[in-house]
Amino acid sequence: MMIGPLALCIACGVMGLLALGAAAGAEVNYDESKVPQYTLPDPLVLANGQRVTDAQTWREKRRPEILEMFRRLMYGRSPGRPETMAFSVRSVDEGALGGLATRKEVTIILSGGEEGPRLNLLVYLPNARERPVPLFVGLNFYGNQSIHPDPGISLCESWLPNNEEFGVEDHRATERSRGVRASRWPVEMILGHGYGLATMYYGDIDPDFDDGFKNGVHPLFYREGQTRPDPDQWGAIGAWAWGLSRAMDYFETDSDVDERAIAVLGHSRLGKTALWAGAEDERFGIVISNDSGCGGAALSRRRFGETLEIINKACPHWFCGNFHQFSGREDDLPFDQHMLVALIAPRPCYVASAEEDLWADPRGEFLSVKHADPVYRLLGTEGFPAEDMPLVNRPVYGTLGYHIRTGEHDVKNFDWQCFLDFADKHFGGRGG
Ligand code: GCU
Repeated sequence: MMIGPLALCIACGVMGLLALGAAAGAEVNYDESKVPQYTLPDPLVLANGQRVTDAQTWREKRRPEILEMFRRLMYGRSPGRPETMAFSVRSVDEGALGGLATRKEVTIILSGGEEGPRLNLLVYLPNARERPVPLFVGLNFYGNQSIHPDPGISLCESWLPNNEEFGVEDHRATERSRGVRASRWPVEMILGHGYGLATMYYGDIDPDFDDGFKNGVHPLFYREGQTRPDPDQWGAIGAWAWGLSRAMDYFETDSDVDERAIAVLGHSRLGKTALWAGAEDERFGIVISNDSGCGGAALSRRRFGETLEIINKACPHWFCGNFHQFSGREDDLPFDQHMLVALIAPRPCYVASAEEDLWADPRGEFLSVKHADPVYRLLGTEGFPAEDMPLVNRPVYGTLGYHIRTGEHDVKNFDWQCFLDFADKHFGGRGG
């Protein structure tokens, strides 16, 4: 089946990405028999050619080597936690969602003062809790109010992509935008399983358009006279991932949250973001990628669906400047995306695909899991307990998990059910 990038981009609702493939003037391959021959770099061989045979060498030598390559060449280097950062709990409602939940709204003030971007974190905690809860955290595309019709959620005040259907006018959220993305965030189901849920609008961190990094968090960290990130410094995905770490900083201060049981997740470009956040920040206990595709879980060397050339042309701000040299030169990369998954080891990681989401290359997403498995096994975990790609709607998981469900590029309750089961397994049923 052929699915054009045009259709998928309309589905994702971001008009700026229309006709990605066409814009890049590139041929898009959806034919498995036309996937080129390729050789994957071995995650368990050091740059000097030596084989990694023990956990200590992985931990002390190979992992830092791989992390450094991803930083320098793909997502860019991010700054650490800002010294001036402060948290302001704007509201707490212990009777939210008809008494089911406590809703908190927390502002993360990056500069410690009035000026500069602020990140608005929405947190739901199940009231049926006896101890600090495990929690899922993920960024959203249309503002916190889009995830649930709950009238107590503050309307997003940041720039949003216009969307008539979603109630965004003149780049601002209106009352009509409440709950427009509720189908992707089954809040009651998550709370019912004993988990908290936290989310933030990704545009609070960096609005998703290419403005030469003038808005968003990047300028906060420019040195004197710097006007855009250096070629090895963070792009937008790096910034979004960094924002998730700032949410993690907050969880460490909230006694209602078990900060050792935080699952970071994301869909599509925000799935790429979740993977990078989990690789960079080892405080995340579980990492979940939903339909993350090119630049996420999908192997770049397969050049199936979206390619590096297409993504770098259409979204030049997503990766760091150095990554652009690999457009059309996938085989020259010293890594592939299975090594991004390997960076998460030994922590549990789950990759989800959708059958009709060929743009994101479901098979390439599966292969990253499979080829990360030797690292997980070296570290003494169960790894991925299967050889072949599972059948549709048949999740398979050990410490690594994977499923391909029927349907299109989206987040469905089926996906969430699998994520909850996976979290129950690894957070010791703390949520269940
Ligand atoms: C586009 C883009 C993908 C991305 C997706 C999304 O389709 O090409 O790389 O994952 O948007 O974030 O919705």
